[in-house]
Amino acid sequence: MSKIEIFEGDRAGNYENFVDTWIPNYRYFMSIVPQLLNDVDEKNLLVAGCGTGNEILEFGEELSSWNITGVDPSIEMLNQAKEKLKAYPNVKLINSRIDQLPEDVYFSAATLLLVLHFLPDNGNKLSLLKDIQKRLKPNATFVILDITGERQPLENNLKILKKLLPDSVDEAQKQMRVNRILTELEIISENRLSELLREAGFEEPTRFFQSSIYVGWITRKK
Ligand SMILES: C[S@@+](CC[C@H](N)C(=O)[O-])C[C@H]1O[C@@H](n2cnc3c(N)ncnc32)[C@H](O)[C@@H]1O
Repeated sequence: MSKIEIFEGDRAGNYENFVDTWIPNYRYFMSIVPQLLNDVDEKNLLVAGCGTGNEILEFGEELSSWNITGVDPSIEMLNQAKEKLKAYPNVKLINSRIDQLPEDVYFSAATLLLVLHFLPDNGNKLSLLKDIQKRLKPNATFVILDITGERQPLENNLKILKKLLPDSVDEAQKQMRVNRILTELEIISENRLSELLREAGFEEPTRFFQSSIYVGWITRKK
């Protein structure tokens, strides 16, 4: 079983504002997810750690041609997703861990956006990747967005990120968040992410996106 990083209270309530402030090009990344998945045959998608549902909402008019299952252990995040997506009966939103989902349901694609960097690399990251892999069809597409990288480039990039933040964020807040990223998040190198993905039963991933410290990866189930 993998660790759960619970989002509740202010952290859940302020999530939309937080991503717009702290994650440059967050909305852009969300907007390209449907394009990344447009060659999937059966339109059956698992959105692991769907949070407030932003990646699902981006399917827009195409949403009705997909069956989407969004799964998140944080009820306050999931309730926001439910509110945004209530018009779509083909979007199932489940308050659960991935390992609690039935194993006989197979998805043709999955996303794991901004989740993995919360889990320690002591078996937790690997468990989550395996729990997703088990529920995918062979060759299924898997898209990840995560903070990845070696320590020194990460520290350098965080200095740049501080310069990119809006004026409304004061210096103390900037420093607090940067410290939290460096001391509390479980950031691994790109090589280690590749190794974990291969061990979980995925192909060598392709790194196709970077905005500041946030890196996008795509791979397939073997
Ligand atoms: C930063 S939010 C990302 C939400 C959404 N994917 C996005 O990109 O906006 C992280 C989400 O991961 C969920 N989460 C935490 N631990 C998890 C785990 N072990 N498995 C799946 N989701 C998890 C949290 O509840 C939270 O909603």
